[in-house]
Amino acid sequence: MIIKFKSTKILVMSMTYKPKVFLTSNVFSDMEIGSNEAISEVIRKDIKNLWQELDQISNLKVFKGRFPSEDQINKRVEEFKPDIIGCHLSHFLNSETLENSNVFAISTSTVGYNHIQRTHKDNIIITHTPGVLHETVADYTIAIIMANLRNLVDLHNYIWDNQWTPEDKWDLDQSLSSVITGKVLGIVGLGEIGKEIIRRLYPWGIKILYYDINQMNEFEQDFPSIEFKENIEDVFRDSDIVSIHVPLNKYTEKMVNRDLLKLMKKNALLVNTARGPVLDLDSLLDMLETNEISINIAFDVFPIEPLNSKILERFKKIKQQRPEIRMILIPHNASADADTRGKMNILFLQDMINIIKSSSLEDLDEVHIIPEHKKQLKDKQWRIFNYWDKK
Ligand code: GLV
Repeated sequence: MIIKFKSTKILVMSMTYKPKVFLTSNVFSDMEIGSNEAISEVIRKDIKNLWQELDQISNLKVFKGRFPSEDQINKRVEEFKPDIIGCHLSHFLNSETLENSNVFAISTSTVGYNHIQRTHKDNIIITHTPGVLHETVADYTIAIIMANLRNLVDLHNYIWDNQWTPEDKWDLDQSLSSVITGKVLGIVGLGEIGKEIIRRLYPWGIKILYYDINQMNEFEQDFPSIEFKENIEDVFRDSDIVSIHVPLNKYTEKMVNRDLLKLMKKNALLVNTARGPVLDLDSLLDMLETNEISINIAFDVFPIEPLNSKILERFKKIKQQRPEIRMILIPHNASADADTRGKMNILFLQDMINIIKSSSLEDLDEVHIIPEHKKQLKDKQWRIFNYWDKK
């Protein structure tokens, strides 16, 4: 009798309690990204099905628009009292609001999650989107390395600005650039993206160095000629191309500082497709302005996005005074392959659905929980436990 009563109770509760889910943008929906024809049909179909499922099993509230301000997000969280929030990188979630909320899980449709501040106990499970964008970002990183080495942006602008006149004929020593062959590539941070760049460039036979907090012995077995550097300084000193692939956190903020930049070879290339604040941009600009260093740059990310006009003016002035410096500046676009963005949204929706359906830690095995939380999963008193008790 007791057993029957208990199981009936659980069934009734789980049928009646629909967790509240707040999405900070309508971009995630079946009618927006799920209907975007740039994305393949099969991916759109998955998004539509998942959207329907999420709508059925939750009490879903979606922000009407794309970019709520921090205040608008805080207000919705205070009023709606969501259990779960879904967001992406343009939606900053502050710790105070989260601290005072019922939120027990946050999903972000990005692989980086520095836009989500942690509560004091850091007991809200966060999910992100690994495994679907590393190939796309690696591709793009290689594309901007190659474009920078061959000076494609300046050459395109040359035609665009009507400078290719009849007198200006093809000549043997004109607009000389250099190839990647013979260069030393230094990867800072050997996560999914750093590894994927190596997988792609290794067959080209260039020398590759890497720095990470851990040496990756297993990975090195497949790529025996790559070289681990225990000190990041060695990567900056010895590479012709330094490419940054670390997440942004309190350890990596402004990690690429004046001291490291000073070590870079003359005419080396600095690439950042990770997060802007990892680089001390002000110091870099200062060093370029004062001729303290001579390096080229390819940046997809910036400390403040969109890039503010004062910083853009500084870049332009440097280019005017030092036209030989090759610059490629792109508005945070590395993962923006249509299907990749669709797949990110699939993971994001799936994770929220699996969290809603979960009743124990084992049920979270397939959920893409951020690495720090995954490591502590069995050791912490997570807020989600209260939800499971309520079910
Ligand atoms: C984009 O920058 C991401 O973190 O997915």
